[in-house]
Amino acid sequence: MANPYLRAFGKHWMKPLTLIALIAPFAYLAVLWTLMLTNTDPYIMGFNPVQWTHRYLGDTAIRVLLVTLVISPIRDITGWQPIALIRRRIGLAAFFYAFLHMLAYLGLDREWSLAKLWEDVMLRTYIMLGMASLVLMIPLAVTSTNGMIRRLGRKTWDRLHWLIYPLAILAVAHNLLMVKLIDGDPTIHAVILAALLLWRLGRFGLKRLKPAQAAT
Ligand code: HEM
Repeated sequence: MANPYLRAFGKHWMKPLTLIALIAPFAYLAVLWTLMLTNTDPYIMGFNPVQWTHRYLGDTAIRVLLVTLVISPIRDITGWQPIALIRRRIGLAAFFYAFLHMLAYLGLDREWSLAKLWEDVMLRTYIMLGMASLVLMIPLAVTSTNGMIRRLGRKTWDRLHWLIYPLAILAVAHNLLMVKLIDGDPTIHAVILAALLLWRLGRFGLKRLKPAQAAT
């Protein structure tokens, strides 16, 4: 990395700024709930704050997940390696928001009844896809520490963390299936994911091609 400003930013500012950016959506939600519960602005989240909250958390989860996937292309295009240092914490934040989204649905919409949640999973395909995506996030979150990378070995860890691609597809499908029109945010999320997957496939293809070319 040639640029000294970028290097200083990477060393001193990137991690704390990322943390603040990742906490901001949660802090914003906490402020809205405080304003509503204290009657300062009772309709700040509209007439259905419960639905507003779990939709907001779902949107935040999927966007943070897509940001996680964008880190590698940025690193590959710019050659700025330190950006990869924030990938794990962004991925963890995606899990955090997805988990809160599920909890908000379970607690606020389904009266904390796991049986009712399970009924929904069985009845509605989009909820089943959301659940599958969340479940696949668990091993990634659990193995996100340096200790786990050491214990598993980099190769196994990298292979395990490829799960991020199928789970992102499941999350986007969950989001797409709940709308009737090919329009709006779910479509934008799907297009971004498709572009990121194409980029990955392209990189993978190039990597396989290079050793073959070197051998000829
Ligand atoms: C057990 C897991 C999950 C359950 C039970 C669940 C449930 C739901 C439900 C019921 C809705 C519809 C909200 C409504 O229209 O009122 C929804 C929306 C959504 N969910 Fe999930 N979900 C789960 C996992 C996930 C995951 C893992 C992600 C992303 C990483 C996600 C992202 C979204 C998004 C983006 C929306 C659309 C929000 C909007 O309408 O603006 N969900 N989810």
